[in-house]
Amino acid sequence: MVGATAAAGAPEGAGAGTVRTDEPVLAKVTLTVNGQRRDLELDTRTSLLDAAREHLHLTGSKKGCDHGQCGACTMIVDGRRINACLTLAVMYQGAEITTIEGLGQPDHLHPMQAAFVKHDGYQCGYCTPGQICSGVAVLEEIKAGIPSHVTADLEAAPQVTEAEIRERMSGNICRCGAYSNIVEAMTEVAGARA
Ligand code: FES
Ligand code: FES
Repeated sequence: MVGATAAAGAPEGAGAGTVRTDEPVLAKVTLTVNGQRRDLELDTRTSLLDAAREHLHLTGSKKGCDHGQCGACTMIVDGRRINACLTLAVMYQGAEITTIEGLGQPDHLHPMQAAFVKHDGYQCGYCTPGQICSGVAVLEEIKAGIPSHVTADLEAAPQVTEAEIRERMSGNICRCGAYSNIVEAMTEVAGARA
């Protein structure tokens, strides 16, 4: 905020022609969220997470750290998982954004949601929307043959092993320590789909 500081220290009347950096810059943006087109006018600094939670009232995606360190805000954008707290909503015009609300509903759960329930893949549930979105995307990554840090043979298709799941899910922190059950849930979904 160097500009703002400089402006604050400027003598009165000296502002003519200067650009104030403390005023929000608004932009119209159209997002496609869970298959629905949503038209918004946002401060260009709005994160994708805040756009979903504060403007679209999709509060399933959680704000854990707001620093890209916990994975609670994970969404799926054009098939890839992202930390929605670390990216700006205005960058996603035209993208297909899926939040936990778009994966399934209580009366029609996504297979990953159902597996988390079956295997007790959560306790407090705060990290769970991010875990589930990440879990869905991770199985797609493996299916697409994308290797990870623990893939031993880069010329062979990666398999859904416990090591692969733990490595690929390592950006999703669970304070309650439900990791073992999350691995079981993902393994079951991968097996059911194979
Ligand atoms: Fe986005 Fe923690 S809230 S990574
Ligand atoms: Fe509580 Fe993961 S279930 S933080």
